[in-house]
Amino acid sequence: MNFSNKLINWYNSNKRDLPWRRTKDPYKIWVSEIILQQTRIEQGKKYYYKFLKKYPDITSLANTNNNELLKIWEGLGYYSRALNMLKTAQIVLEKYHAIFPSSYNELIDLPGIGDYTASAISSICNNEVQPVVDGNVLRFLSRLYKVDLVIDSAKTKKYFKNLGFQLIKDANPGDFNQAMMDFGSTVCKPRKSDCFDCIFSTDCKAYNTDSVMLYPIKKKKIKIKDRYLNYVVVITKDRKTRIKKRNDSGIWKNLYEFPLIETKTEISSDKIINKLDINFLKLSDIKKTKHKLSHQLLHITFFMFTVSDALDDFISIESLNKYPFPKPINNFISELV
Ligand code: ADE
Repeated sequence: MNFSNKLINWYNSNKRDLPWRRTKDPYKIWVSEIILQQTRIEQGKKYYYKFLKKYPDITSLANTNNNELLKIWEGLGYYSRALNMLKTAQIVLEKYHAIFPSSYNELIDLPGIGDYTASAISSICNNEVQPVVDGNVLRFLSRLYKVDLVIDSAKTKKYFKNLGFQLIKDANPGDFNQAMMDFGSTVCKPRKSDCFDCIFSTDCKAYNTDSVMLYPIKKKKIKIKDRYLNYVVVITKDRKTRIKKRNDSGIWKNLYEFPLIETKTEISSDKIINKLDINFLKLSDIKKTKHKLSHQLLHITFFMFTVSDALDDFISIESLNKYPFPKPINNFISELV
């Protein structure tokens, strides 16, 4: 049995009884699909009833105002969905004489309707072959075929849309799409997938390689480390200062900097002075800046001190431009000279 027949068989005996499955009215299907975009089914049901009670047809919705609509939407979040619905209703009233369109090409041009919503409505109400790619479908297919593409990119969506086109063959498109979504949300679940009861487990590439939980592949979140760099900038009366070369293997290797005290958190000037253990320094100014690197956020503080006499290794501030410095230090220096 091919994939779609197997799936539809499963759907016929396991489908959820949902209120929007008792209609093919594109207006009502649209309302349900917009509500369900960021909302769980149980919560979605309540809002679906409430919405249709207040706005039973496109004309009633087109004639409401933002405030009344938002009152109905209250608690659902992502309020731009509701505001786009009002815009769409007004367009449908004028352009389509209050008859909600059901073809993909007409739907996709309406505010708040993207590929997912246009595919759902056109497949359910117009039998159009338009596979839906939502989070549930993407998870299910990425496991079944072990798709090593990072989700959240347009390229990946396109890949799954094409895969959907290959699989939807022979099936009623609306049933196929809703079956895919049901299968993803009730069997091929995000954390506790029911692999033992899954009718596709023998075909599932991820299951057969013990890697179900690795799919879909999510973008790695980079952990940004905070670092606190405190520079001791000592300046003499005749405008000399002291710098050092960085020779550790971390950031800024071989660049120059002022003498550094790195701490675990932000530190006060008193504590810096204590650490220096030199009492002829006079604090003249403190300058702070932040610098982002790919994996680090540098909290940089320049503690500026005046001192009467120069030591042997001091160089003139004017000659600092002969040395290579990291960008945030160069920015600081450019204000000095
Ligand atoms: N989630 C959003 N729309 C759905 C639908 N029509 N069937 C199942 N799950 C859904």
